[in-house]
Amino acid sequence: MKKIVFVCLGNICRSPMAEFVMKDLTDQYEIESRATSSWEHGNPIHKGTQKIFRTHGVPYDLRKTSLQISDQDFHTFDLILGMDESNVADLKQMAPAGTEHKIHLFAGESVPDPWYTGDFEETYRRVLAGCQEWINRLAE
Ligand code: 4NP
Repeated sequence: MKKIVFVCLGNICRSPMAEFVMKDLTDQYEIESRATSSWEHGNPIHKGTQKIFRTHGVPYDLRKTSLQISDQDFHTFDLILGMDESNVADLKQMAPAGTEHKIHLFAGESVPDPWYTGDFEETYRRVLAGCQEWINRLAE
């Protein structure tokens, strides 16, 4: 089974949103999420993202806490999706040799970071659309 990891800066807002939205849409893939930074290490999913899950009926797991991507992760996952351009740039810097090809931008445009915008609904719309696009792309 193909393994996919969503990656953002803190792994508390956008990438866990993508993780649980994608898990709700498909059980065809192994799906996790990570941070590029260690800033939020061990912290739970942001309250704003949890509220989005409850509003839209997306099941989620409160045991999920922020985890920085490791060298091992670059080898383990088949597809490494950065939520914005700077996540992708950071991932390319961090990637062990031979794993760079796995890194892609999640959507055509960077997903806005609700940590700064406060707009979790806008982020949810972009995350949902992006997940649906990946499902279609991977099915081809
Ligand atoms: P995320 O949002 O990358 O979507 O999880 C952020 C979370 C925390 C911080 C920045 C962005 N922070 O500065 O701690």
